[in-house]
Amino acid sequence: MLPEKLEIFKSLESWVSESVLPFSKPVEKCWQPIEFLPDPCQGPKEFAEEVRALRQRALGLPDEYFVMLVGNMLTEDALPTYQTALNTLDGVGDETGSSPCPWAIWTRAWTAEENRHGDLLRTYLYLSGRVDMLMVEKTLQYLIGAGMDVGTENNPYLGFVYTSFQERATCSSHRNMARLAKEGGDPVLARICGTIAADEKRHENAYTKIIEKLLEVDPNATMLAIADMMKKKITMPMHLMYDGKDPNIFEHFSAVIERNGVYTTRHYAEILEFFIKRWELEKLEGLTGEARHAQDFVCRLPHKVMKLESRAKKLEPRRVAFSWIFNKQVSA
Ligand SMILES: [Fe+2]
Ligand SMILES: [Fe+2]
Repeated sequence: MLPEKLEIFKSLESWVSESVLPFSKPVEKCWQPIEFLPDPCQGPKEFAEEVRALRQRALGLPDEYFVMLVGNMLTEDALPTYQTALNTLDGVGDETGSSPCPWAIWTRAWTAEENRHGDLLRTYLYLSGRVDMLMVEKTLQYLIGAGMDVGTENNPYLGFVYTSFQERATCSSHRNMARLAKEGGDPVLARICGTIAADEKRHENAYTKIIEKLLEVDPNATMLAIADMMKKKITMPMHLMYDGKDPNIFEHFSAVIERNGVYTTRHYAEILEFFIKRWELEKLEGLTGEARHAQDFVCRLPHKVMKLESRAKKLEPRRVAFSWIFNKQVSA
């Protein structure tokens, strides 16, 4: 990134302290996974009873639900990849691993909060007895080893557009999983997914505020970055996922969440529409020629994506086996 661009991120440090850091919650005010899980400290009989009740509730949920929950859990649990990605962004990375720079403080606080999401979902899945943990764990190891390439190119403008979008997308996906858990008769799991969704919402607010600020101090570069990420399409962070068996597991997983309405092309278009309004992109004035084209492209995009949605709906369902659920088949 050019020195004058690096200067922009340097000059925003005190703004980050005042306006972004408050979006992270003090540890003492955060929930912890054990609050939603059977607690082994309460004595063996009570513990066994709570595990039995958890397994009983999980029986009400269909196999495809567990495919989707495993996918969401893996997305959360590949957290080392995301912290690495944030630290590759120029001007906002954590240079020492415990840097006092406000950008780095935010990234570590965010990572520490996110770390609870994978922990909680993984322990729930383990206790549920519904998934093949060996295959799930292998997939996670493959996934972290593979990393991700979502096109943010060390560029913090691109990086924060991606995180804004991704936080809103995961919020919506966890919320839909909460709704399905409730309908399937597992109110505890509904609370788990809903609580994680609320964290994602707070994170979305933080990243959205960063882009809002960048639009104020550097509208042209920020508008170009938004268009650039949209041209590349926002890819889910676990797009390089593999379980050692199915080379198309990511595509199959994506089809299952689309079919079950957990994360769909329509959601993608709605998220984009939301950001166009939230960042008031249509009203941005005084952009240079190239950025004006970018503005035009982005503001017209939701309509085009919606058209794709109606085409996707017509696809016939197929049966796909997932190693995570002992090679049973679900509709994808
Ligand atoms: Fe998360
Ligand atoms: Fe998040």
